[in-house]
Amino acid sequence: MNDPVYFPVNDFGPAMKGIVIGGLGIFHVFLAQFAIGGGMLMAYFQWLAMRGREPKARLVLDSYFRWLVLVSFVTGAITGVAMWFTSIQISPATIGVMVSEFHWVWATEWLFFWVEVIAGYAFYRYGKRLDDRTRLALLVTYSVAGWGSLFWINGILSWQLTPGEWVATHDLWAGFFNATFWPSLVYRTIACGVIAGLVMALIVNTMGELEREDRRRLVHHSARFMLPVIAMPLVGAWFLGAFPEDSREWVTGASVAMTLFLNLTIGASALIGGYVVLGLWKQRLFINGATATLLLALAFGATAGGEFVREGARKPFTIREVLYSNSIRPADVARLRVEGCTSADPYPVRDAAQYPTEQLVKGALVFRNQCSICHTLSGVNALEHLMGAWTLDQQRMNVAKLQWTKGFMPPFAGTPDELEALVQLVRWQSADRPETWETSHDPAALAQIRRWLEEAGTSPASAGGGR
Ligand code: HEC
Repeated sequence: MNDPVYFPVNDFGPAMKGIVIGGLGIFHVFLAQFAIGGGMLMAYFQWLAMRGREPKARLVLDSYFRWLVLVSFVTGAITGVAMWFTSIQISPATIGVMVSEFHWVWATEWLFFWVEVIAGYAFYRYGKRLDDRTRLALLVTYSVAGWGSLFWINGILSWQLTPGEWVATHDLWAGFFNATFWPSLVYRTIACGVIAGLVMALIVNTMGELEREDRRRLVHHSARFMLPVIAMPLVGAWFLGAFPEDSREWVTGASVAMTLFLNLTIGASALIGGYVVLGLWKQRLFINGATATLLLALAFGATAGGEFVREGARKPFTIREVLYSNSIRPADVARLRVEGCTSADPYPVRDAAQYPTEQLVKGALVFRNQCSICHTLSGVNALEHLMGAWTLDQQRMNVAKLQWTKGFMPPFAGTPDELEALVQLVRWQSADRPETWETSHDPAALAQIRRWLEEAGTSPASAGGGR
């Protein structure tokens, strides 16, 4: 498995690959967390109904369930499958390692998901005709299975950030129960409950058959269900505390974007938590559909920010210490600097005819292999904008010393010749793609690039090195 494997990857034009997968992931996570929390909330409402604590619980539950099925089964499943489709087009190497290491965990996760689907469908189809105990049993099965699927997937996702001992031992359980496993599981479980509770507040407002007093009571029940949100700041701190140190630094100042997103998440969560605890629960405030929608939008923002931070903080890795975001293994960098990252790549550049010279075609291949996961040439996070205005030598040096230019980039993993091709490509792009372009082959420049590459070394910035 140590041979570098090249996969055909797709190009998403001006939309950066990382953004495509991140954007989709955020929707999927939000929907999936709604599905899981929704199951728990309904089991809670069924229990309230059976205890005689809430006369309308059963009515609301059946209405809620229709939404849950529609949203979680249909859109949740579609975005879930879409995640697989985009990730295999964007980062097949990462998925490859995940599947080869964790296939039994994935299989188990799918088994749980199946149980969730079957229990959910059975409830949807026959729920109204069943007696209370069977209804509760089905809903509990649904929630346990849903939460179980989170449990399994959480091990794999958190392993990407903190694989810990697994890196040395490849012990599956050491990788699975890694440093961020528990904080992330608890954090997500609370988030599931909050999303579900807010959806409940929205749905009771759509039900014309309910009196205002009913709605107030029902909202109060969901507020009680959401109370674990009080623990969110502590759990968040615990989660952040378990981050690797350099990742924590990115999100607490070193990267402005990530720091902003983290603060956005903290701010939005605090607003929701404050409203739920003080407003809905303590003061028994009524909440109308518009407010509930607003809170849900905030919850979506908090989820989006949180996922962005979690994914972003892992840079330059998709699997820490094992695989860089651009699918290059740290162990291969030194060799690729000699052999080149393009020489063994069997897949041609798309529309090669658009480039006037062979060198630019090569540059496009270097770009695809090393930069395209996080940059575009002229769209999102475009190299044209980031380095187009630099002088030629600045461009060469900062790419040669990539991991020191910004610590969340992997070291450059190609020959001086490839680096020059990439720089020429960016210059050609910045010059608005003229029809002719001179090929550069200045031995002195290549020798200088080689010296810069040597100075930069082949380790990631996170490994220290004191610059
Ligand atoms: C793991 C993701 C990732 C990879 C891979 C990556 N970059 Fe970056 N790069 C970034 C991020 C994020 C920024 C910060 C953008 C900003 O500050 O707006 C950045 C910034 C830059 C900058 C501007 C640096 C500065 O200080 O202004 C340059 C130049 C650059 N990248 C070149 C490259 C090149 C060339 C490659 C491929 C050889 C590459 N990057 C690969 C994520 C990456």
